[in-house]
Amino acid sequence: MANKDIDWGNLGFGYIKTDKRFVATYQDGAWNEGTLSEDETVVLHESACVLQYAQTCFEGLKAYRTKDGEIVCFRPDLNAARMADSCRRMKMPVFPEDKFVEAIIETVRANADWVPPYGSGASLYLRPFMFGTNAVIGVKPATEFEFRIFATPVGPYFKGGVRPLTVRISDFDRAAPRGTGHIKAGLNYAMSLYAIVDAHEQGYDENIYVDAMTRTYIEETGGANVLFVTKDKKVLTPKSDSILPSITRRSLMTVARDYLGLEAEERPIALSELENFVECGLCGTAAVISPVGKIVDHGKEIVYGMDSMGEVTQKLYNTLRSIQMCEIPAPEGWICKIN
Ligand code: PLP
Ligand code: COI
Repeated sequence: MANKDIDWGNLGFGYIKTDKRFVATYQDGAWNEGTLSEDETVVLHESACVLQYAQTCFEGLKAYRTKDGEIVCFRPDLNAARMADSCRRMKMPVFPEDKFVEAIIETVRANADWVPPYGSGASLYLRPFMFGTNAVIGVKPATEFEFRIFATPVGPYFKGGVRPLTVRISDFDRAAPRGTGHIKAGLNYAMSLYAIVDAHEQGYDENIYVDAMTRTYIEETGGANVLFVTKDKKVLTPKSDSILPSITRRSLMTVARDYLGLEAEERPIALSELENFVECGLCGTAAVISPVGKIVDHGKEIVYGMDSMGEVTQKLYNTLRSIQMCEIPAPEGWICKIN
């Protein structure tokens, strides 16, 4: 592996330019084959649909280096399927799912020197995204699109690494009933920018959003789903049509049941239940599993423990990491080998 002169162990979650990115374009009703490019810039028409009406969606997944020096990705087929769902909802043309996975593999291979070493705690984050490029001025979808995948090495999502977070119940909403919360549209993240800056200014690491209709049920945070553990070690996660179906969360529910022998349930979770739980964590590709030490609900503090990760959260974290690093056998189809 070439020396990239990076302090892998101290990487944060930021953009670092890597060698190659995948670029495909859609014109006259068809995607071209796509190619690898060294150019990280995009030149757009001033009235491009993405600039005027935010017609864009994205994905996030990681490539890891295993103990044997191999490079693997985790369940890229599920990112392909979710991106297809996002595209359909955003009136964008689906980039074929098999080609999406091939393009991921091609992008990782072309940036193999940027996959952090085993044991560094870092990984190569992949960001597939699509946007409408041609000029529109009336509110309507574009007819021309670009699909790109770039790669960037990352460390932990939250500043300070894996440590119990302090989060608040947000007064802002992120997604509407029957809106776009269940897809990975850029507009959902635009919605959360004011709230995350405000949360940081008030000393919180993240916002937990509640359902916009009744404001009584837990939804998710700006960039991760939420997991809870009950006193009798049951793993719970909110069920809602307006949250992103996290691949990490779906995987962890399987890990809880099939690897740890725990009960795991997806169901609506009321705000009023928070104090019955003993552990809480945020889960996602970027967040992995980040323990929540404290939730603040308008002056009321629900404390799960600010010293360390909870027992079950730690077991979920260790098992998922071991699966992703190929240290223990993965369920069929979870590991995609790159080389
Ligand atoms: N929820 C939101 C809003 C996210 O942005 C993400 C990140 O992708 C997740 C949940 C976690 O999803 P996944 O585990 O598929 O990365
Ligand atoms: C991811 O986990 O891949 C995400 O997209 C979350 C994002 C907020 C960085």
